[in-house]
Amino acid sequence: MNYRHIYHAGGFSDVFKHTILIALIQSLLKKETPFCYIDTHAGIGNYDLHLESAQKTQEFQYGISKLQGITDHDIPDSIATYLNIIQTWNHRMRQDSRLYSSDLKELDILRYYPGSPVFARELLRDKDHIILAELHPEDAQTLKQLFKQDKQVATHFLDGYTAFKAFLPPKEKRGLVLIDPPFEKTDEFETLIQKLTLGIHRWRNGIYAIWYPLKNPRQVNHFYKNLSQIGASEILCYELYMPQQQRSNHGMHACGMAILQPPWGFKETLERVLPWLCQKLGEGVKWREFLHMSRK
Ligand SMILES: C[S@@+](CC[C@H](N)C(=O)[O-])C[C@H]1O[C@@H](n2cnc3c(N)ncnc32)[C@H](O)[C@@H]1O
Repeated sequence: MNYRHIYHAGGFSDVFKHTILIALIQSLLKKETPFCYIDTHAGIGNYDLHLESAQKTQEFQYGISKLQGITDHDIPDSIATYLNIIQTWNHRMRQDSRLYSSDLKELDILRYYPGSPVFARELLRDKDHIILAELHPEDAQTLKQLFKQDKQVATHFLDGYTAFKAFLPPKEKRGLVLIDPPFEKTDEFETLIQKLTLGIHRWRNGIYAIWYPLKNPRQVNHFYKNLSQIGASEILCYELYMPQQQRSNHGMHACGMAILQPPWGFKETLERVLPWLCQKLGEGVKWREFLHMSRK
């Protein structure tokens, strides 16, 4: 396990993934009944962008840094919430680490980038729950520490797919699974299809959001084809392309999110969010809906 998310924290792919995650949770919040959020590859939940590893790649410059200081009136709700959470989180972290007394006060508006577990936690009501799995021993420990006094969050030092099998369906019967693997294994797309087939079978009403890199078109097309055959009632796939990243040779320049069994009206929500996001992320940033399939 070599992957460390700190090198990519706050990059364009995190912005894309986390705004979609927030939009999904906002949809779940529209109903009174409790829900469960399951994050199979949770990471550490909080990333210090001042660390050498984050500074080395500077990926956040192509992502969250582009959205700082935006005051537009037409900002989509999920992005406004996303930015608010980041602001509040930085405020809280700086208070906790007593950095407020230093001259970082004004300059250092964005230092800590929250991970998916924190975005979800910030939106949770008292009746909702979170289940987190992380397999890197150190990261799992860091994550456990972050939520150590939180009765609504269960953290597990566990393989994400084992957790997926073990915790589905959650007792709430309503909710969302985020699957965000590092794609270090060559058969990750095949594993995803296998696990999602099982997931849909076990938890018919669950919403599943899957992040994936767009590096190998043949593999991705194969994934889309297989995805359309697993029995989900509806599938939406969105792709984001980042030309700066491509030009500056900073590794991955495109990624996707598949949403299985999305909430009602979610396609329309993303059709407002993604054009806005692309415009702010910079010239030439593009999105597209690649697969829209509905059996309803
Ligand atoms: C892309 S990062 C997760 C980022 C996180 N979801 C977020 O958005 O903030 C992938 C994480 O999966 C962890 N990981 C790798 N293999 C895993 C496995 N089999 N089960 C659970 N976690 C795993 C890595 O240590 C890493 O922290």
